[in-house]
Amino acid sequence: MASEEASRNSRSRREPKGRILQQDKYSVLLPTYNERENLPFIVWLLVKSFSESGINYEIIIIDDGSPDGTRDIAEQLVRIYGADKILLRPREKKLGLGTAYIHGMKHATGNYIIIMDADLSHHPKFIPEFIRKQKEGNFDIVSGTRYKGNGGVYGWDLKRKIISRVANFITQILLRPGASDLTGSFRLYRKEVLQKLIEKCVSKGYVFQMEMIVRARQLNYTIGEVPISFVDRVYGASKLGGNEIVSFLKGLLTLFATT
Ligand code: GDD
Ligand code: MN
Repeated sequence: MASEEASRNSRSRREPKGRILQQDKYSVLLPTYNERENLPFIVWLLVKSFSESGINYEIIIIDDGSPDGTRDIAEQLVRIYGADKILLRPREKKLGLGTAYIHGMKHATGNYIIIMDADLSHHPKFIPEFIRKQKEGNFDIVSGTRYKGNGGVYGWDLKRKIISRVANFITQILLRPGASDLTGSFRLYRKEVLQKLIEKCVSKGYVFQMEMIVRARQLNYTIGEVPISFVDRVYGASKLGGNEIVSFLKGLLTLFATT
C-alpha cells in the first residue's frame, strides 16, 4: 500500500491539476455480443469525440463470437479507422462480461482505461467530462452515475428500473461503498488501479461492476462521479436475464460475508 501511495503522489506532482497531458492515452474497452447494428455508431461517436478534443485514444473491441456477425463489422472498422485506433481482440465464444474486460485490458496500451457498453446506452459525449473530473480531483476512478444530479435512466420499463434500484439499495445498505451507482458500467480507471481491482475481484457476470466499486473502497482508491443519462438500447436485446439477477444476489451475499 505504501509504495502505491508514493507512486500516486509522485504522479500528482508530474500531472498538474486539470490538464490533459500529451502522454495520456485512453483505452476504451468495448465488449460486444450481437451488436452488429450498434458498433459502427458507437465507434464513430467515440472517434469523433476523441478527435475533436485532441485526446489520444484506442478502442479495443472484445467480441465473443457473436452469431450476428459483429466481428465482420469490427474488421471493417479496423480497416476504416486503422489498426492503431481500433483493436479487435475477439474470443471464440460467449464467456461473460467480467472476463471480457480482463481480456481487453491485457491488450490496452493507454494509462487510463474507459469501460462502457457498446449498445449506445452510454454516450461518448460524457467521456471528456469523465476526464475533466479525473484531472480535477486526481481520482483513481471516475464512475458515471444515473442516481445523482442530472443523471437518469431512459427507456427502461418499471420492472428493470426497480431491479436496478433494489440492487443498488441493498448493496448500499450491506456494503456502504461510497458511490451512488454501483451496478453501472460506464467508468474510467487508472490502468494500474483497474489491474489491481481485477486481481481482487472474484465475480464474472454483471455483479462484477458492483464488486469493483466495493473493492475500490476497501483499497482506499478515490472515486469521482459524473452524472450520466443511460438510454436503453434501440437495436438488439439486453443479455441481462433472470439467472444474472440470481448470480448478482449470490455475489452480493458472498461479498457481504467476506469483506
Ligand atoms: N464480449 C462480451 N461477452 N460482451 C458482452 C457479453 C459477453 O458475454 N454480455 C454482454 N456483453 C456486452 C453487450 O454487447 C453490451 O455492449 C454490454 O456488454 C452490456 O450488455 P447489455 O446486455 O446491453 O447490458 P444491459 O443493458 O442489460 O445492462 C447494462 O446495465 C446494467 C445495469 O445497470 C450494463 O451497463 C450492465 O453492465 C449494467 O450492470
Ligand atoms: Mn444495454
